[in-house]
Amino acid sequence: MNTQAKLYETVAMMMAPGKGILAADESDSTAGKRLDMVHLPNNAENRQDFRELLFTAPNVEEYLSGVIMYDSSMRTATDDGVPFPDVLTAKGILPGIKVDTGTKELEGFPGEVVSQGLDGLEERFLEYADMGARFAKWRAVITIDKNIPTDASIEMNAIMLTRYAQLAQRCGIVPMVEPEVIFAGDHTIERAEMVTTRTLQILFQTLMKYKVDLGGLILKSSMVLAGDMCREQSSPEEVANATLRTFHMSVPHDVGGIVFLSGGQSPKRSTENLNAIGKMGPQPWPITYSYSRAIEEPFLLAWQGKPENAAEAQKVLLHACKMNSLASQGKYEVTLDQILK
Ligand code: 13P
Repeated sequence: MNTQAKLYETVAMMMAPGKGILAADESDSTAGKRLDMVHLPNNAENRQDFRELLFTAPNVEEYLSGVIMYDSSMRTATDDGVPFPDVLTAKGILPGIKVDTGTKELEGFPGEVVSQGLDGLEERFLEYADMGARFAKWRAVITIDKNIPTDASIEMNAIMLTRYAQLAQRCGIVPMVEPEVIFAGDHTIERAEMVTTRTLQILFQTLMKYKVDLGGLILKSSMVLAGDMCREQSSPEEVANATLRTFHMSVPHDVGGIVFLSGGQSPKRSTENLNAIGKMGPQPWPITYSYSRAIEEPFLLAWQGKPENAAEAQKVLLHACKMNSLASQGKYEVTLDQILK
């Protein structure tokens, strides 16, 4: 199979209807924040237990097409010695890898950042591909405040995302490009829409300028909604309308698919907003979820780090994946959620 055919096959599998992607790609220090929710110390053993329970949950493959991991999880195995990427592949779930190495401040642009990680990236891709990775993620951070974001910082991040996407595709790995417009703040939904539209327009202009194959690429986007400190919070219908309007203004129709991050919204809100978007389908692109916090939080609260809660927590995970999979198709109902819980 040539490289392009492999990329397109991976995209089709990732965007299979009724499935989504779990983002379990927290760095070792961010994983500590998750474990801290249930007062577990952040050590390698607890991180392994946490991820092993997520990845081995019975039947989770019915709702997950992919899982994004961090470098250390790619290199971790189950208690029985099976490497995590192999556990996922055996279930028919595609392993993915986060490859940016975090953000650094952008000199001359107070409050703005640029993601790092291009050095040696091609060699890293080849190693990850050998370990079973089929797709990758690079996250750029766009913050809204009085005078930011500037076009200069959006352009710098778009260049980095584009170079990453080129290298990933050359290595047969599908790039997920993630310009996250941050939810925290007191901005209105109108401002979020303007910023997200501008960000996506600059990003796709840059990707096209450098001839990235859009059919072999996935956009990971934030939803368009008022900031968490804004007095007027957005309803699911408002979020769906603003988000889809933004995509229609800025995302070429040949992009392989669009997935959402949850961005600090509660699990319930993330599902309800996705459902409102799903109800307005079909769109030119397949659309689904790629949540981290909105899926992991209910799991962690059920688990509490106790072996006797493990099976129940895996059921909670399965339920969250199922509800979001229904929502991606506009078929989620609160009553169904409560009955099946
Ligand atoms: P959240 O769903 O917690 O926003 O995480 C998704 C993600 O991948 C952020 O980079």
